[in-house]
Amino acid sequence: MSNAVSYEINGAVAVLTIDNPPVNALGLDVRQGLVAGIEQAEANADVQAVLIIGAGRTFPAGADIREFGKPPMDPYLPEVVSRIEACTKPVIAALHGTALGGGLEVALGAHYRIAAPSARIGLPEVNLGILPGAGGTQRTTRIAGAKAALDMATGGKPIGADKAQKLGIIDKIDDGDLKQAALAYAGELISSGAGPRPSGARTEGLSDESTNRAAIEDTKAILAKRARGQFAPFRIVECVEAALTLPIDEGLAFERAKFLECMETPQRLGMIHAFFAERTCTKVPEASRAAPRALNQIAVIGGGTMGAGITVAALDAGLPVVMVERDAESIARGQANVEKVYDGLIKRGRLDAASKDKRMALYTPATDYSAMADADLIIEAVFENLEVKQDVFKQLDKIAKPGAVLATNTSYLDVDAIANVTSRPQDVIGLHFFSPANIMKLLEIVVPESPADNAVSTGFALAKRLKKTAVRAANRDGFIGNRIYKAYGLCATYMMEDGASPYDIDKAIYDFGYPIGIFQVHDLAGMDISWANRKRLAATRAPQERYSAVQDKLCEAGWFGQKTGRGMYVYPEGARKGEPNPDVLEVISEEQTRLGITPRKFTSDEIMRRYMAAMVNEGAKVLQEGVALRPSDIDVVALYGYGFPRYRGGPMKYADMYGLDKLLADLREFELEDAHFWKPADLLVDLVAKGRTFEDQNKES
Ligand code: 3HC
Ligand code: NAI
Repeated sequence: MSNAVSYEINGAVAVLTIDNPPVNALGLDVRQGLVAGIEQAEANADVQAVLIIGAGRTFPAGADIREFGKPPMDPYLPEVVSRIEACTKPVIAALHGTALGGGLEVALGAHYRIAAPSARIGLPEVNLGILPGAGGTQRTTRIAGAKAALDMATGGKPIGADKAQKLGIIDKIDDGDLKQAALAYAGELISSGAGPRPSGARTEGLSDESTNRAAIEDTKAILAKRARGQFAPFRIVECVEAALTLPIDEGLAFERAKFLECMETPQRLGMIHAFFAERTCTKVPEASRAAPRALNQIAVIGGGTMGAGITVAALDAGLPVVMVERDAESIARGQANVEKVYDGLIKRGRLDAASKDKRMALYTPATDYSAMADADLIIEAVFENLEVKQDVFKQLDKIAKPGAVLATNTSYLDVDAIANVTSRPQDVIGLHFFSPANIMKLLEIVVPESPADNAVSTGFALAKRLKKTAVRAANRDGFIGNRIYKAYGLCATYMMEDGASPYDIDKAIYDFGYPIGIFQVHDLAGMDISWANRKRLAATRAPQERYSAVQDKLCEAGWFGQKTGRGMYVYPEGARKGEPNPDVLEVISEEQTRLGITPRKFTSDEIMRRYMAAMVNEGAKVLQEGVALRPSDIDVVALYGYGFPRYRGGPMKYADMYGLDKLLADLREFELEDAHFWKPADLLVDLVAKGRTFEDQNKES
């Protein structure tokens, strides 16, 4: 018997218990164990039914992703599922925890399914750039119809046991001890003489042809927008379509072929990289050395864009929040900013009034700093001005309770310069949220010179509580994200000044897979913010740095973007989507004349070659300076904070796939025109010389 599947006889039932922590992934050992268990049960005349159940926290959460890309090892999962389905005695699967992907497919191979009420059931393969490859699309369609199969497999989100039961995927839910309930269910099936009931032979889901057809067409239309540029979602639709017309064996073969096509794509590599990257980034030295401090109440200073967003994120997570503003008028505005978010959700039917009240009951407005005396963690989100922030921290030093973590949400300022005005720099960190803070998943945890380990680990604990993905960053200008963003932003601006239309640049970026182009982002964020930052850095700007004044000129005209109705784009009354602003092209042309630049053409390919080279090169500098712990942390920042297309894995993963030698050659080519901006990072040169990749660095970290 395999180490990962135990076999025990309980009365007339053979119980196969899968025990492969942490998530009972269906690695080779498990697959072998399942097949051996079924065979043993079949060979034993005393056994009348088989039960498959997971030990520990869950039924299998899927195939073992770590095996992907390695040489295939018999038996394959589809064979295992078919072997279970072909068992001559009824097989029952008992589901708890998360029965996902291959896990659900194993359960569908069984003839009957019982679940704990809390079980989550799903086909999330699409999130990994693949599709259910062990019959998931075929058997789900046959049982529950095309819409259910498409929603589960193209949406990738798990459903609850209740819903699965309504769809016919689960036969029974029991809130008692799952194993006992499953044994009792097996007993019932044996006494009623119920034999094997293969999912592959079921047809309930196929009966309503017109509804199934409509589901296929609707999904195609939805995916055209939602899954733009992706491969797997469209193959899933083909598989479900096949399930509607083909006999089960042909349907399974069709699905297998499509699964293998997905496995061959770079998108699969990118998305699986993202899956592991977002789990690795929380593994930081401070958190491994020290447990977090208590986190029962937080305070937020400032009720503007960020303060209000952070407050909503905390209230949503059930954390009591004290919000402090400068005066009565400002705090009233701060509270209104919070309520506006909830009222918007209520209006769209995504929240009810009672839930808003429940959240607002955790909210305390204040204008006096003493209201924060009990807070375990205080987040400052006042104006981006060092003196103002230092003043706030001096006051915090007087009133915060000993051991409270004091955090700044600064975008660019030196966190040490803020920490050092207090008598307790060991308690000070940066918590850099992204706007809108209640929606964006990224949180950069900025570690200055001298915080205690447990101040940093508390930052990570807060992120987990807020369901955010946290990445550790050292305290350098722009941290990880804004620093790299600035580099590729400059690259885009230079291309614009050299002749590429900003609208062509945005289109190339959009076609690459970003939700919007960089100039659209500028308009959204407000060009005044980067303008202020350019002015702040003017005195320290390297003399050899190329400076484009195009956006300064637009700001001088009062065109900040969406908020002023005009920026790189013009926004007719209330419109969120802009039209090209003809005045911008004029300003660019004037600047070209002033600087003696003869505009030239850029293809989309060259635009992206430059854009990515600038991004990756700055990423390599961030790494070599120790601002990020590992390349995959940079990927996570780009994915969760800056809209980098997930199916490309992140910029550093993209660079590995593109070829670091090729990327270095691009930099060398561009360096001829601007040696300062395009100077290759030493780390990149070193990696290329040694034939190494960023992935090698990830592994070492
Ligand atoms: N294979 C290998 N390792 C896995 C895994 C899998 N399918 N799922 C999770 N893990 C690992 C994680 O990497 C993590 O490892 P670490 O501790 O070394 O970082 C550990 O298990 C625990 O995972 P989480 O930290 O994510 O734990 P959570 O409790 O937060 O979440 C979960 C649990 C919901 C199961 C989540 O891990 C998850 O969504 N897993 C992936 C599920 C999935 O995509 N299944 C489909 C796989 S592909 C497939 O089945 C193909 C088939 O159709 C042929
Ligand atoms: P904002 O201007 O919308 O809000 C700032 C708020 O702070 C105002 O409501 C103001 O009344 C209040 N305030 C000022 N001084 C105060 C004091 N001494 N005590 C109490 N309240 C005070 O600014 P925003 O956009 O919310 O930015 C806040 C901080 O977050 C800045 O440091 C900014 O760089 C940073 N940030 C901003 C992002 C954005 O996209 N807006 C993204 C990430 C960080």
